[in-house]
Amino acid sequence: MANDSQTTIIEPLQAPIDGSTTVPGDKSISHRAVLFSAMAEGVSRVSGVLDSDDVRSTIKAVQALGATVSLEKQIDGSLAGGITGWGSAGPTQPDGPIDCGNSGTTARLLMGSLAPWPITVEITGDESLCKRPMRRITAPLMKMGVSFDPAGKETLPITETGDRDLKAIVYDAPMASAQLKTAVLLAGLGAKGETVLNEPSPSRNHTELMLPEYGATTTAAERTASVKGPFTLQACEVQVPGDPSSAAFLVCAALMKRGSSIQVEGVSLNTARIGFTRTLERMGADISISREGQAGKEPYGIISACYTPNLRGCEIPGDKIPSLLDEVPVLSVVAAFARGITVFRQVSELRMKESDRLSAIIEGLGLMGVEAWMDGDDLFIEGQPDLEVPDGIVFDSKKDHRLAMTWALVGLCGNKPVTVSNFDSIKVSFPTFLDSLQRMTR
Ligand code: S3P
Repeated sequence: MANDSQTTIIEPLQAPIDGSTTVPGDKSISHRAVLFSAMAEGVSRVSGVLDSDDVRSTIKAVQALGATVSLEKQIDGSLAGGITGWGSAGPTQPDGPIDCGNSGTTARLLMGSLAPWPITVEITGDESLCKRPMRRITAPLMKMGVSFDPAGKETLPITETGDRDLKAIVYDAPMASAQLKTAVLLAGLGAKGETVLNEPSPSRNHTELMLPEYGATTTAAERTASVKGPFTLQACEVQVPGDPSSAAFLVCAALMKRGSSIQVEGVSLNTARIGFTRTLERMGADISISREGQAGKEPYGIISACYTPNLRGCEIPGDKIPSLLDEVPVLSVVAAFARGITVFRQVSELRMKESDRLSAIIEGLGLMGVEAWMDGDDLFIEGQPDLEVPDGIVFDSKKDHRLAMTWALVGLCGNKPVTVSNFDSIKVSFPTFLDSLQRMTR
């Protein structure tokens, strides 16, 4: 690997990937463990927390609001320790704006947690986050009684003032979004009565699974979740399993690198998160999962995969997309090397992520000589099993961590180096990505 300030050259791996490994803690669960503990009465104990830029944004945010976070780096690179929450006293007025960096989860979940408290907080973020839609969160919170300034503004910075007399609502979400669902449920903890969130297809359910650990009464079904308020969360213990979205990069690398075999251990096997394993199976991949145990209500276990020639394209229906939402970029690269067409139905939400991931996928695959296009909200990729990646490709990561790792796989698993711009954006979710792969090729 060679570096200058903006671009990184990713060289092909010198040997097949071979062996067992683990991945850092799940990003979604880590955010929730920190935020819910900060909201709770008492001292929560958390372990396995992902140490990444995004989770650090949540830690800094809750510290600015009065929670005490005493997490220490462990030998495996995770964070563990105690978090003393603001509990029934509520968060304190911060000194200045809360900067959520690149993290949409921090900004959106924070809006829900601040809803019942009469403080005024300006929420902001980096250039990418300040382009992402927020009205999807502020609209239901305004129905509950929260004020935003400017009211109805789509993008950060936005200033929020909560209300002690929140109204419980029944809200039909216009899109499947776990961040939206969580914001409404967290606000619902401060409202009198039952707050219900219905969604068009099931988004990840970590919030519904974790809130009962903090003593809250929630219900969770296929497309509906609810919470009963008012309720102050009570401190508890949370163990964060490995992140399946990070594991997906290692698994796809093993599938594409000739002669490889990998087992990723301790990974969350929550079905709302591992849709990519089913998709890869349908593409003909040699992949399997086996359960090891349970952390709270989150199942975890091993994902195993071996190099698979002769992958074939498949169609992924819209209602399955939320279960593999963050994996569409890396699956697109696998699809580029598969025989036939792969279709991802109803993926327009990908335009709203850390970058416009649909345009980025089409642009990056185009550099590789692979045809990819949108038809309405559906993404089509015409695979080429005998694809020869051209020399000297420079991929633009758009400063998006998942794109940076996706394009890196093209270089790592092929026989030509590629260049990736702003590769260091991987610090957002999987800072040890390259080390993990390189360690398994020795
Ligand atoms: C997340 C939910 C997903 C996902 C994001 C993390 C979460 O977004 O893309 O990376 O932790 O709740 P949606 O809100 O679109 O489901």
